[in-house]
Amino acid sequence: MVTTLIPPHERRILEAHIRKVPLRDLALVTDPLDEYQNRELKELIRLRMQGLPLQYLTGSQDFFGREFYVNTSVLVPRPETEGLVELAINELSKLKLSTNLTEIRGLDLGTGSGCIAATLALEILGCHVIATDCCSEALGVAAENLRRLRVNNVTLLEVGTPPTLSDYQTLGDLDFIISNPPYLVESDEVATDVRHHEPESALYAPDGQPFLFYEMLIELGHQKLKNDGVLAFEVPHERADEILQLVEKARFGQARLENDLTGRHRYCVARKTISL
Ligand SMILES: C[S@@+](CC[C@H](N)C(=O)[O-])C[C@H]1O[C@@H](n2cnc3c(N)ncnc32)[C@H](O)[C@@H]1O
Repeated sequence: MVTTLIPPHERRILEAHIRKVPLRDLALVTDPLDEYQNRELKELIRLRMQGLPLQYLTGSQDFFGREFYVNTSVLVPRPETEGLVELAINELSKLKLSTNLTEIRGLDLGTGSGCIAATLALEILGCHVIATDCCSEALGVAAENLRRLRVNNVTLLEVGTPPTLSDYQTLGDLDFIISNPPYLVESDEVATDVRHHEPESALYAPDGQPFLFYEMLIELGHQKLKNDGVLAFEVPHERADEILQLVEKARFGQARLENDLTGRHRYCVARKTISL
């Protein structure tokens, strides 16, 4: 018998993981855990008590109705990011309708687990995504997810850090650029488990440059987006207005902020209807 010092539902998730049964079927299993399973459960509970996110212990997180493999080299996909994908799907469907395009190509900068790229590639017919990351282990996780989900219209590309435009020069013209870049700054409020266990390079903007990724994404938009192309970013609500101003100053059209489910500005969307 394992003494539990974590919430009962988390223990159940870990037990289902160890028994290799879906959580909904756990109540149907009546065999006691064997010695090896007991030891494994104790170890996972110990790690959970130290603050390791549950998703790293089970190796999985649902995103947009699909299961993604995760480990400590990638950010755990967030519900907020599902909102970004939903916005992008709407915007890209409008783009396809208005332009009669049957194939579209886009960039997902900072792909991590590959959750954005894989979901767009699976949800939008004729969508090809180039997905970049500076972390080779993260690209390994993304590759595993593409394999598990049988996605063959995403190309992974390793790039350098800090981000530079030169890494993207060989990309052809794009119909969209999407990104959930590292955007936190030291003074932002961050849950302790997140701060201590998720990769720093996935969380924090480069030191003293909270807008660097956004400036680069906007410049990439100028260089690579076709006319009418879509920019869609996840943004920190604390600095959402400044990011919108950057996009407007760069003279993209229909620039706007959208809210996440908690009612805070979380997304910035725009079109390259440029009148330069
Ligand atoms: C906030 S995470 C987003 C991960 C994933 N797209 C998601 O939404 O769950 C940011 C990602 O950007 C990557 N990253 C950091 N610096 C980068 C750079 N210079 N170029 C490309 N990716 C970078 C990190 O490794 C991390 O995977």
